[in-house]
Amino acid sequence: MDSINAAADILAASEYAIALTGAGLSAESGIPTFRGQDGLWTKYGQPSNLSYRAFSQDPQGWWERRLSDEDTPGNPTYDLKDAVDNAVPNPGHLAVAELETMGVVKSVITQNVDGLHSRAGSRNLLEIHGNRSYLRCISCGSRKPRATYIISDLPPVCPRCGGIIKMDTVMFGEPIPSATLEACSAEVQRCDAMLLVGTSGAVSPAAQFPLLARERGARIIEVNPVPTQLTPAAHVVVSGPAGEVMPSLAHAIRTRAIRSR
Ligand code: OAD
Repeated sequence: MDSINAAADILAASEYAIALTGAGLSAESGIPTFRGQDGLWTKYGQPSNLSYRAFSQDPQGWWERRLSDEDTPGNPTYDLKDAVDNAVPNPGHLAVAELETMGVVKSVITQNVDGLHSRAGSRNLLEIHGNRSYLRCISCGSRKPRATYIISDLPPVCPRCGGIIKMDTVMFGEPIPSATLEACSAEVQRCDAMLLVGTSGAVSPAAQFPLLARERGARIIEVNPVPTQLTPAAHVVVSGPAGEVMPSLAHAIRTRAIRSR
């Protein structure tokens, strides 16, 4: 409780707090994380850093494997699709959205591709690793919902520019789309507090954001059941699952706001 109050104090006093979220936030929605026990990469092995190069060299073969994997149990694509298709936002997502509605959290940078932040009501959202329900053209960068696009010829091509279309999800070895990365960097530069929820801090550039923000004087809060690589950078650590901690944190901030009226 002390750590929740300490985190609430930081957020309530901040002028520009942002959140950085990861797979742990969606764990209580039934979506597996990547690392740690039951993580997708723990179970199946982490994809190669050459994944994007493999896609670029043979997009047709990549799409054939992708569509087959989506329908065949026993691989991370199937597990993630199955989990996300059946998932709904949990109290952790709802509390993050409530903090934005309260004006406390100004934006959310998420590494999650499951779309649950939007469904929970987060609006100023940067999906740094893309969104698995979207497709993206690698030439012009235009995005559209996969559900609105009939995938017939492989690889699919962009109706706007004729470029090759891939999943919007950022692959290992693929650069983050520059507009998204620039928008994230601007938020990191601007924030005076950063709330880390459910990320191991294992993947850059997102893992660098708390360190960069801290260097500039931002206060860092971490919400995670276990210590991570980012724990040493945190001013306050709230140890526990996001689905329990985040509603308590939102409640503590709400109570402060009511008292200060
Ligand atoms: P990880 O799987 O690396 O880490 C998940 C974190 O969530 C761990 O630190 C867990 O302890 C924590 N966690 C587990 N359950 C939790 C809960 N109920 N509440 C809060 N935290 C919990 O996932 P990410 O850090 O998101 O990238 O991984 C970053 C990127 O690595 C992903 O976006 C993905 C992956 O490769 C791409 O696929 C491009």
